[in-house]
Amino acid sequence: MTFVIRGLAAAGSLAALALPAYAQTEVKIGYALAPDSHYGVAAKTFEEVVKAETGGDFEFNHFPSSGLGGEREVIEGLQIGTIEATIVSSGTLANFVPATGVFDIPFLFRDLEHARAVLDGDIGQEILGRFDDVGLHGLAWGEQGFRHITNNRNPIETPEDVQGLKIRTMENPVHLAAFNAMGAAPTPMAWPEVISSLQQGVIDGQENPLSVIVSVKLDEVQQYLTLSGHVYSPAMLLVSKPFWESLDDDQKAAFEKAGKEAAQAMRGFVDEVETTGVETLKERGMEVNELSAEQKAAFQEDIASAYEGYYETYGQELVDSIVNFK
Ligand code: PAF
Repeated sequence: MTFVIRGLAAAGSLAALALPAYAQTEVKIGYALAPDSHYGVAAKTFEEVVKAETGGDFEFNHFPSSGLGGEREVIEGLQIGTIEATIVSSGTLANFVPATGVFDIPFLFRDLEHARAVLDGDIGQEILGRFDDVGLHGLAWGEQGFRHITNNRNPIETPEDVQGLKIRTMENPVHLAAFNAMGAAPTPMAWPEVISSLQQGVIDGQENPLSVIVSVKLDEVQQYLTLSGHVYSPAMLLVSKPFWESLDDDQKAAFEKAGKEAAQAMRGFVDEVETTGVETLKERGMEVNELSAEQKAAFQEDIASAYEGYYETYGQELVDSIVNFK
């Protein structure tokens, strides 16, 4: 008997040695894409920096590939405090902070450098700060790249080629207005439904940046890729406000630093895939065409009517100040 009790006591002290001296706080981080995508790379960097800065206060559990649901559901989870962190596209962000929609306006940014400068500058940071009013805390703007159209119906060279095209858009009124103005037949849809809808022919196409097209292997369900670059696709690192408020100042500083480094890692990944992605997709059998400046101008003309609505919603002054940002 004495032997058994001593044995248990020894087992107990061994267990105590193996466990941290205090409980770690769980950080569930959800995102729509795979661990080897730009989101996965950002989430890994985020975890590494938080751990390095806080010395093990936090335990991370990753839920890639929409493991916690669509982006809207995940953001709602953050608001009620059942999920701690996420990396999301701007798809549904305007439902939470309407001003973010301004960055979804097609043909707004000249290039990645322009977009990054605006998002990291006063305009982007002011809008990021508004997430604190809606149960969230924005840590940094990341990105996905410029969005391009893929479809199974025909190559796209002129606005006529998108007439009636059943194209999935994000659940985003700015994108929806643009595709309506082009004469396409857009269907807003949450990401987790997209691949099966393409497989079943419910939709002809979708649009996403090369980072997503390569990572998700959209070439397996889509024949044509048109490098339209019709809109920049920002992403955001967000944490739950209830979670944020539970952190002390040092922990908050660690999360801010981690968010910024994760965003940089995401941008680095996007830079890489922007140079290699087209070749990869051609090798995998996609038929790729790139819109010339003249061809793009024809699409821009087509969505001029949508711009009237954008000016009404966001103010022409703001839109112009982003376009003219140097
Ligand atoms: O198309 C979308 O909904 C987004 O770009 C995606 C693929 C979920 C990544 O955030």
